[in-house]
Amino acid sequence: MLQTINISPDKRLCDISPALYGIFFEDISRAGDGGLYAEMLINRAFDDGVTPEGCTYNADCKTITSPTGWISGFNCSETEGIHGWTASGGAQMTLTDKDTLNKARKRALNVRFNGGNIVNHGFQGIPVKAGCTYRFYMFARSGAAADINISIVSESGKIYDHQMLAVEGGYAKYECLLESSSDDGKAVLSLSSNSTDTVTIGFTSLFPTDTFMGRENGLRKDLAEKLTALKPAFLRFPGGCIVEGFSKETAHRFEDTIGNVWERRPHWLLWGYNTTNGLGYHEFLQFCEDAGIDAMYVFNCGMTCQARCPDYFNDALVEEMYNDAVHAILYAAAPPDTEWGAKRAANGHSEPFRCLKYLEIGNENYGEEYNKRYKYFYDRIKAEFPQYAYIATDHTEKSGLPTETVDEHFYSDPIFFAANTDMYDSLDRDGVDIYVGEYAATIGCKKGNLYGALGEAAFLTGIERNQDKVKMTSYAPLFNNPAYTAWEPDLISFNNHTSYGIPSYYMLKMFAENRGSYVCEHTVITEQQKRREQGVFRYTASGEKVTVGNIGGNRQSLSADVDITDGKLTVSFWDTCAEGEDQNRYDLVCENGKSSVIHYNGWSKEVICEGCCELNGSSAHIEIDTDGDEFEIRINGVLIHKAVLRSVPNISAVCTVDEAAGELIIKLVNITEKDIAVNINSDIQLSDKASVTVLTAESMESGNSFEFPEAVVPVTNEVVISNGKLNIAARSVNVIRTALIR
Ligand code: AHR
Repeated sequence: MLQTINISPDKRLCDISPALYGIFFEDISRAGDGGLYAEMLINRAFDDGVTPEGCTYNADCKTITSPTGWISGFNCSETEGIHGWTASGGAQMTLTDKDTLNKARKRALNVRFNGGNIVNHGFQGIPVKAGCTYRFYMFARSGAAADINISIVSESGKIYDHQMLAVEGGYAKYECLLESSSDDGKAVLSLSSNSTDTVTIGFTSLFPTDTFMGRENGLRKDLAEKLTALKPAFLRFPGGCIVEGFSKETAHRFEDTIGNVWERRPHWLLWGYNTTNGLGYHEFLQFCEDAGIDAMYVFNCGMTCQARCPDYFNDALVEEMYNDAVHAILYAAAPPDTEWGAKRAANGHSEPFRCLKYLEIGNENYGEEYNKRYKYFYDRIKAEFPQYAYIATDHTEKSGLPTETVDEHFYSDPIFFAANTDMYDSLDRDGVDIYVGEYAATIGCKKGNLYGALGEAAFLTGIERNQDKVKMTSYAPLFNNPAYTAWEPDLISFNNHTSYGIPSYYMLKMFAENRGSYVCEHTVITEQQKRREQGVFRYTASGEKVTVGNIGGNRQSLSADVDITDGKLTVSFWDTCAEGEDQNRYDLVCENGKSSVIHYNGWSKEVICEGCCELNGSSAHIEIDTDGDEFEIRINGVLIHKAVLRSVPNISAVCTVDEAAGELIIKLVNITEKDIAVNINSDIQLSDKASVTVLTAESMESGNSFEFPEAVVPVTNEVVISNGKLNIAARSVNVIRTALIR
């Protein structure tokens, strides 16, 4: 079969959505301090190891338990040392919670130098470059005068630069500039002195002076530039699950993230580390303004993460969160002669931040508890601030609530994405708008590979075709420091001095750089690959998983009598059983006389078919027959479900027209292992020359790395379209631009 794209360039399907490609930043995998936020010192405020308020520390297994019972890793407790700092040469240091710098600071460091030194090791070392300058400051106090030598040194003690700071009296800010004489990715910061009295240090910081747009307390230039290179339309921030937290104390609050950084309350992030909140609301808005993009602020709506033993806040606390959200809006928007506008002005931005455009009420919240809070926040905030676009995290419109845009999240395998390019084709055009706020091919592509980019690209062709309703997207997460990974894959991997984009990064760059003016009518005629999934048929009885046998592929029949004493039945089949992939399964669920088959793929969930079932007695006889991509399910001999699994199109494509350039743009994905000759059939004559930007590689598993950061990057070639046919390379994402000849 010839694969064909029939195109009518002059027939407008829909306009492009200018906001289609955005970015989503969450402080995960150390994306903040030591990442996008250019701070070079780890544990700069000495509070990394403080057990989060309300939680208990379990020393034996290095975890903390939240008030609602959520258990989370906690491997840097101050009971086991001072994270990131060491003392040597006779210096002694201890943490204290007495007389800290201010009420936001939970700890200070008491040091007796005695001729020795203390060292901060940074985020896997402090990266310095010859001729570059670094701004150090600290708040310190000392009863007796103490000369403290601040130096950047190699691990073996070679001094790259040093400055003396004379500390005496109560807390004061001491600062200096250091210029490195050498390149070193693993330097350290050393503070040494001959003083034998106690010097108390309340806060420290070391920043490169060369930050993005030269901002003090700014962003790491190379990482910020990687973001702007994506030409994003907006930035969603600050999360993600960190907005929700796993306790009321770990929930995000705007008011902790503005003002002098040493006066901001720290915040335990549920991704397993502390943040000093230096990268706060003001800095995010400043980045948006500097980058010329819109800002989307996500705020907590009075509940913690529902996947982590949720805490539904009481009315008083909901009101506190509500006020926090309102203050954030006022901080961005109010004139400088108002309370919150004045705070913004005092922080260096007198004019309102006009980049704030979107407000998201919660993150991944759902159900009745969410609906109540959503309504409470939406009704009141919308009435006061009608100028913003509001986003819900669930389909609240189905509960009759006013809803503008719904944020949907997908984490799955590449095949899920490629098989669902038509997901939005039948959206109600009068219904809510969709924002795909988080998505990534995760299963089977943890390090970020070509296969993931192919699946995502195919999915995005479907989204582009529906961008009249699916108006925004953002890949997630954005950053990962592999030394502190909490989630994989992530769009950009970085260490303390360099970074690389995974293939999805380059795919997104290609898509964002080639938007066009409108989507034109087109149809894609392609062969489909059948899904022949293999796995295990098992069910759960009294909480235990019972395995019946292997199933899938060529025809197989398996049956079992399963326990239904609790009136409920869940049978899983095609469960891969691979470690970490227990979300890859089909579930037969029977409850209240109804049954359905649900496909779980990563975190994505799709109801394949629904039916009626009769469950009587204490057991039911379940039979599952499979034949390739088809299955039948019988309960007590009665056929309840019959389904054909979605197949995967060999090619997926979307066509737009760039009116200014007079060009047709075809985004075309070949997810197969073979080159495919594609027939390009257009109503309007096309030039026989085209520029084709291709992202491909030797294998589906190919990716980039610190060693080979550009192993998988797009390449642009001028090609000839011969007899209307183009050869599309195996495993490739393509952007084809060709002139329309009128
Ligand atoms: O992107 C990682 C996490 O996935 C986000 O924090 C959360 O919103 C989602 O569950």
